[in-house]
Amino acid sequence: MTVLITGGAGYIGSHTVRALRAMGREVVVLDTLELGFEAATLGAPLVVGNAGDGALVRSLVEEHRIDSVVHFAGYKNAGESMQVPGKYFENNVVATARLLEALVGTSVRSFVFSGSCSVYGTPAVLPVDEKAALQPESPYGQSKLIGEQLLRWHGELHGLQWMSLRYFNASGASTDTMIGEDMSHTFNLVPLVMNAALGLRPAVQVFGTDFPTPDGTAVRDYIHVEDLADGHVRALTYLEAGGVSGALNLGTGTGSSVQQVIDLVTEVSGRVVPTQYVGRRAGDPSAVWADNRKATSALEWVPRQGLRDIIESAWRWHQSHPTGYV
Ligand code: WQD
Repeated sequence: MTVLITGGAGYIGSHTVRALRAMGREVVVLDTLELGFEAATLGAPLVVGNAGDGALVRSLVEEHRIDSVVHFAGYKNAGESMQVPGKYFENNVVATARLLEALVGTSVRSFVFSGSCSVYGTPAVLPVDEKAALQPESPYGQSKLIGEQLLRWHGELHGLQWMSLRYFNASGASTDTMIGEDMSHTFNLVPLVMNAALGLRPAVQVFGTDFPTPDGTAVRDYIHVEDLADGHVRALTYLEAGGVSGALNLGTGTGSSVQQVIDLVTEVSGRVVPTQYVGRRAGDPSAVWADNRKATSALEWVPRQGLRDIIESAWRWHQSHPTGYV
């Protein structure tokens, strides 16, 4: 009943490791620590290595009698992937293919995959549901779509039970501030606004004020990382109970603008957030938010935390850990 968690020393991975251990599940974390931190695993068994190292994976599966895998390991920034696509296909596609191949013929039956709403690109209809066109607009989103296609074939040909969880904007930190997002590698809005509020960067840049949205700034579906972790735990339980393979949106169903995030950080922190309004970032859709009803019905998953909880938990984390885990 042991679960192998690749990338479990990372942001969403570490929150999921914690949630699984809290319910008594045995876990083994496999992480290169390129972007993750041992401190984030809170003492969970950790093997430093690559999820694409087939021999290592097979030895871990046999040694720890692993029957489920949650695969977080991968690069996650759409903007960066436009600059270095090869790095994203190598780490997100090739390593995933090698991981899946290593599992063939082993005791592993259930596989939860770190998917992404980026597979939708700019949705034609909002909120976006799982039947929407899959038209990624970045190598990152493309790599996540290919990952799902690999899973489909391993499901059809090897009987693997799989679930791809398509995250929207993962944000926030653990409610008790024990773990959170390390800012050293992030390009995401919430930690960058926190940095500006803490005076760790001169200002936060707002990418575009001319979007067709209520305040002109782009709209996203910010989902608390603890709600995401709960979604992974429920997806694993669902698969292990024989649930049908597929993909589910993990979002709140509510959109918030860049300006709303900045205003809430200003209110919660009591600080001025130095802000520069600049042009749009290439590839940014004006608005994306989730239709999460499929996840709610299949997993009985309901996101419990809203934008204020996200900002309050992120502020507690960043204020007490200005340099993250370093
Ligand atoms: C959010 C908004 C920016 C930085 C993320 C993840 C991706 C996927 C989807 C899981 C956008 C604006 C940002 C800044 C800004 N999730 N922004 N100034 O691009 O929505 O994608 O969610 O797979 O992995 O990266 O997230 O945080 O970069 O941007 O104005 O300095 O904030 O334009 O509208 P994004 P983000």
